[in-house]
Amino acid sequence: MKIVAVATICLLGALNLFSDVEAGTSIDLLKHTALGLTGTLPCGHWDCNCAFNEQPGCCCVADDMFKLEGSTFWRLMGLWNDLSNLNSQITELTGFSGIAFNARMIPMGGCIGPFTSNVSISYGNITLNQGSGYNPSLGIFTAPRAGIYSFSYSVYSNVGAADNRLYFKVQLMKNGVEVASSWEDNREDSEDGSTQTVLLTLSFGSQVYVELVSGRQLCSDAYGQNSFSGYLVYPLSG
Ligand SMILES: *[C@@H]1O[C@H](CO)[C@@H](O)[C@H](O)[C@H]1NC(C)=O
Ligand SMILES: *[C@@H]1O[C@H](CO)[C@@H](O)[C@H](O)[C@H]1NC(C)=O
Repeated sequence: MKIVAVATICLLGALNLFSDVEAGTSIDLLKHTALGLTGTLPCGHWDCNCAFNEQPGCCCVADDMFKLEGSTFWRLMGLWNDLSNLNSQITELTGFSGIAFNARMIPMGGCIGPFTSNVSISYGNITLNQGSGYNPSLGIFTAPRAGIYSFSYSVYSNVGAADNRLYFKVQLMKNGVEVASSWEDNREDSEDGSTQTVLLTLSFGSQVYVELVSGRQLCSDAYGQNSFSGYLVYPLSG
């Protein structure tokens, strides 16, 4: 009974609004009856004010409509956020200028070292320094941005005759910590060399360099075979 009554009230209320008919006391009576109803209403949240004074369509679905509107709004906001994140990532990638350097020792006939402390080697012949990360006077690469970087160095020394002691050690340093090294200590070889490559995660401003360890020396690099190079493989945010 109640279900039918409320549905009828809704319908009449709607008709009243649509036709703008002066219904007088019969509508007042319906309104009174509707307000007097107790118990569960068929749509769960029927709103008399809505039905009689505002849009007829809001009668039973207003709540659902508002919820839908709300969730659509939040979904759109989420999409908008995702889109603007994507946009800034694309800007970062397309605006990404390469970082790469390649430096080698200026050919020398004599030796560098031995020193009393570990000394960073400055590779004076710069053939590439995109992004200006490498400082040739200090021999230090400073990361212009955070990222995964690849570094290589080659060490070579020639002491001339087999009887002379070939005695070197160089080490690749990241912020004062050794990450790779190469060494030689013998009297059988007169010359030797090696190359190392490492991948490092660097934050902005991290410093990478090659040191000649105290007490050791590098000799007679006639062709600039001692070299140091590095490049940004891909950037990381932060
Ligand atoms: C620097 O290296 C390049 C390429 O290896 C070479 O052609 C040039 O002569 C070198 N310059 C010096 C000053 O050693
Ligand atoms: C120099 O390097 C050597 C070899 O890695 C290390 O044992 C020594 O502690 C270093 N010296 C300084 C002052 O860092």
